Amino acid sequence: MLRAMLLEHCSWPDVERYLEQNNGVLIPIGSTEQHGPTGLIGTDAICAQAIAEAAGDALDVMVAPPITVALAEHHMAFTGSMTLRKETLVAVIEDYTQSLFRHGFRRFYFINGHGGNIAVLNETLKGFSANSTGPDAATYTFVNWWAGPRTKKLRDEWYGDSEGGHATPSEIAVTQFVRPAAMKPVQRLGPAPKSQGFSSAEDFRSKYPDGRIGSDPSLATPEAGRALVASAVADITEHYRDFAR
Ligand code: NI
Repeated sequence: MLRAMLLEHCSWPDVERYLEQNNGVLIPIGSTEQHGPTGLIGTDAICAQAIAEAAGDALDVMVAPPITVALAEHHMAFTGSMTLRKETLVAVIEDYTQSLFRHGFRRFYFINGHGGNIAVLNETLKGFSANSTGPDAATYTFVNWWAGPRTKKLRDEWYGDSEGGHATPSEIAVTQFVRPAAMKPVQRLGPAPKSQGFSSAEDFRSKYPDGRIGSDPSLATPEAGRALVASAVADITEHYRDFAR
């Protein structure tokens, strides 16, 4: 995983040489928010970054620094969660991509680790693509690491209904694989309330008191995490090649 070309590990001549061959960049985007009583607050950012690095390695595509704090207003009743305002996140996405555009990057591929970012990524990146025309046009897209066909199949087979909607065993498994030293001891937790919507951060906490939505993270194992990273990389590699064609 460490062989990926990380922008932060390049010198400026390295990036210049890369751009002579390739104008693509992978941008991990996650979130910093509660993931139940046992999951790491950084889960979404850690998953997106690890999978982006592994995909960058498989594709020989550069990986930009991750966006680790994003839209998590609905988790703010749980201590330690952090959020950007929507307009801040849109500005961050614009400034990230515009900085890289000025140097010659033209294919912007976000690897997302957080459901709460989907609407803003969809809207913002569609807008950028529509406004980018002519010979110097850039293309923008994103993928949710957990949603590709191979990865979804594993999640369904292994976890079924226990996957739930938040603090899922699949995302916890990926963190067990990539950050073993940070993990809390596995605990058997009681059943989590099923998804029933929410209207605010306080309402979220009252409906889902320990932060989980319908999930059983005690099913997670680091071996499953390793397999999920591999399946996500296979899904993303196929999708990226189509995008960058
Ligand atoms: Ni998550």
